[in-house]
Order: sequence, then structure tokens, then C-alpha cells
Amino acid sequence: MFTATIIAGLLEAPWPTVAVAGLTTIGGGWLGIRWIRGRWHFRRKIRPTARALALPTGHSSVALAQHLSIPRTITEDTQIEFPVPDTFQHSAGQHDAVATILGNRFGHDWHVRTARNPLRIVATVKKEPPGKVLFAEVADLIREQGGPWKILAGFGANREPLWLDFSPGGELVNLGVSVGTGGGKSAFLRFVVAQFAYWGADDFPVIDTKFVSLTGMEDIPGLRVYRRVEEQWKALHDVRLDMDDRYEELLLNPQKSFRPRVTILEEQNDAAIEWRAHWQEIKERRDPATPPVYQDITRMLIKQRQVGGRTIGVYQRMTAASCGGIDATVFRDAYGVKALSRFGPGAWDTLTGIKPRATPSNIPGRWTFVVEGRVRPIQVPYGEPAELSAFALSGRVRDIPTGEVVGQGQGQEGVVIGLEEAAARLRMKPETFRKARQRRPITGEFRTAQNRPGWPLDALLRWAGMGEAETA
Ligand SMILES: Nc1ncnc2c1ncn2[C@@H]1O[C@H](COP(=O)(O)OP(=O)(O)O)[C@@H](O)[C@H]1O
Ligand SMILES: [Mg+2]
Repeated sequence: MFTATIIAGLLEAPWPTVAVAGLTTIGGGWLGIRWIRGRWHFRRKIRPTARALALPTGHSSVALAQHLSIPRTITEDTQIEFPVPDTFQHSAGQHDAVATILGNRFGHDWHVRTARNPLRIVATVKKEPPGKVLFAEVADLIREQGGPWKILAGFGANREPLWLDFSPGGELVNLGVSVGTGGGKSAFLRFVVAQFAYWGADDFPVIDTKFVSLTGMEDIPGLRVYRRVEEQWKALHDVRLDMDDRYEELLLNPQKSFRPRVTILEEQNDAAIEWRAHWQEIKERRDPATPPVYQDITRMLIKQRQVGGRTIGVYQRMTAASCGGIDATVFRDAYGVKALSRFGPGAWDTLTGIKPRATPSNIPGRWTFVVEGRVRPIQVPYGEPAELSAFALSGRVRDIPTGEVVGQGQGQEGVVIGLEEAAARLRMKPETFRKARQRRPITGEFRTAQNRPGWPLDALLRWAGMGEAETA
């Protein structure tokens, strides 16, 4: 009132009039702002959502926009309802499509169902993923429901497991991880490697500039860590050469199935820096600016699906520079599923292109997976290296008693155990044999309970090009 009196004096009007005028202005302004925000919400959120929903529901987007009442802030209690036309089939696929659209536009995971009287769609927000999940809680689930190409990523909303389908016809061959420091990248790698190894994969080339990521997992068969630049380049080049060999074999025998090889690219931002620095030192004038290793990786990513190759690439931030520079788009697209955590808006936009952006969480191990355009908040289970390693070994090695081959019906004579014995049998130096075997894995290789490598004799001879004749 004091202010009104002063203004009244200045305007030479009675103060109650000024007070009323002032309040009207404030009230009007408030209503105006509300109206504008409502319009904004309608134009930026409701209308585009109605347009997106028109396709899977068979509704007209204009009619749908009238019916859609979606609050500005979504909470776990939010429920959205809208009518659907008679043509709607109420299939799981249609419900999923609606859930995906709502999730991508408003965040959260949605449960979508049909309700009757009147016939309508009801969408509710699912409960957040659990706050922490220990490996011990998921070990049985993996044993019962996982598989050589079916790898558990973690639990989503309502504690629903997210399985990554690495099978030849599945949604991903390569998984790209873009997670800031301390976000659980190395822990995740150990968790995933343990699962692949449990199901029998036994070839894990690991490119790790920082050395320590897979510490505690050394007993896993076929885990080979490359730490120095030249070593890393050679290993990746060999993977690519072997992939090309496998394609030759596939041409001759289209039924052939190949031993899984899971290549782990750890700390790729650091690798990019080291690789470029090294390339600067050694490259000749006419060499390309990008180190050739990126050619090898790109080819591996885009071609390995049919010949047993899979890759997990790990980045603090999956930038163009860390994905080979000029080929970065192809390279990044080759990661069929992406997992992000501790990300900024720029990283989200370049990697997913999905609007609105997901919000990064502070919860350790809470990652956002983008699977076939669908955004899924997931809690990644955490296991100690020792328990993961024990789990891995309990799978594959469990059924192989010392010195015997599983399921081949062969006696001891049909089998060679140990590097020395194999080298002697092939009349090679142990060191030469060891290197050749690393370059070109031997089909049918297995491990004994003592974790020694072994081979069916005929497989060994075939690998060495000595064929059946020598067996006699
Ligand atoms: N899935 C998880 N759930 C809970 N805590 C986790 C999880 N993963 C990692 N952590 C915690 O975060 C720490 C850092 O994890 P680490 O894998 O080394 O991260 P990064 O490799 O991304 O730097 C771990 O020591 C562990 O305490
Ligand atoms: Mg790490």
C-alpha cells in the first residue's frame, strides 16, 4: 500500500484506484504467463507427441492432441489416458511403440495397456531401476536365462532385466560405451567378459593402454591384454586378417560356425592420444594423417558379424577423434547399442540424436542404454573381480576333466595337452607355435581343469596344414 500511495502521489490519482490497477496488472500478467506456458507445452510437447502417436494408434493427430492431457512434470504417479480408434489391434507391438514414444519424449520407462469402458490406452510410469545390484543377485538369472550370445546388461525399471542380443541376427554386434571417469566402465567390462567366458568364449583380445582394467581376471581362458602401441596395432591387424581368413572359409563352407572372439577396446580416448603421437613419430611423409589401426578397427566393426567377432568399445567420451576421425560416422554407427553415463548434452546429441535428452544420474552403475531407438535406464550389477572370475571358470571349464575332450568320443590318444606337447607333435619350436597360435587361433581348442590348453589331434594337424595323412 505504501508503494501505491507514492505512485498515487506521482500520478495524482487516489491510491485505492492505483492499488486495484496494480493488482489487476499483476494478476493479468500471471494468467498470461500461465497461458503462454500452457501454449508452449502444447506446441512443444503435446502436439509433436500426438503426431508421433498417430501412426501406431491409427488416430488422427489433431483429435489425439485434443485428448492428450500430459502434465508438465512427470512423476512416478503420472498416468496418461487417451481413446483409440476401432482399428487399433491392442498388440504388444503397438503398446511397445506407444511406450517408446512416451519414453523418448518425456523420459522414464512407460507401461502401456488397454483399458475398457470406455476403450482407451492407459500409460503409467514404471518404478525406477533399483539403486544398487550385486553380482550375487544376478548369477542364477544369468545361468538360467543367459546364453553364449545373450548377455545381461542389468536391471531396468520395475526390475526388468535388459539382455543384450549379440546373436548373428540380433540387435548388436558391437557395444559402444561412453561413460565418464569413475562411472563403472572397467567394472562393466569385467562383468561382460565373465559372462561371455562362462558360456565358452575363449578369445578376448584386450586393448588397454592403462593396464589395470581386467586385473583379477587373468585366469580367464583366452584373455590377452595388449598394452604397448605397436603390440596393440599388431593384435588388431591380426584380428582383421583372421576375420578375412574366416570369410574365405565361409565362402567354401556356408554352414561353418566360428569360435566367438570378443575384442575389448578399453580407454579409447587415451588410446587415441597415444596412437596419434606414435604415428606422428613414425609416419613417412606420404602416409595418411590417421594411424592405419583405425582402418583395421572400422573393418572389424562393420564386417565381423557373420564370422564370430564381437566388440565392446569403451570411451570416456565417444568423440569423432577417438573413433578414427574421418570414418567416425561409420565407426560410431557400427556400435548397434550404445550405453551412456556421466554424459554431457553434446555427447548425448551426437551419439543418440534423441530428443528430449535423458538426464544423467549420479548413482554409481546407473547407465542409459539406447537399444533400437529406445532409451532405457539400467542399473548395472557390480561384482568383485574374484567372484566374476570364479563364475566365468565355473562355466566352461566345469565339464572338462583333465586331459579329456568334451563330447568328441575320443580317448587320450586323440588329444594333445599343453603348448610343449603340441609344438613337439608339429615339429615346431614352442615359441614359434605359441606365436602362430595367437595369430591364428586353433579351432576346437579347449582347456583342462588345470587351465592348460588342449586340442583334438586332428584339429591340430588340420590347423598346421598337415592333414589326415600325417596322423597315420
Ligand atoms: N555397477 C556398479 N554399481 C555400483 N558401483 C559401481 C559399479 N561400477 C563401478 N562402481 C564403483 O565405481 C568405482 C569406479 O569404477 P570403474 O569401473 O573403475 O570406473 P571407470 O572404469 O569408468 O573409471 C568402482 O571402484 C566401484 O566402487
Ligand atoms: Mg576404468
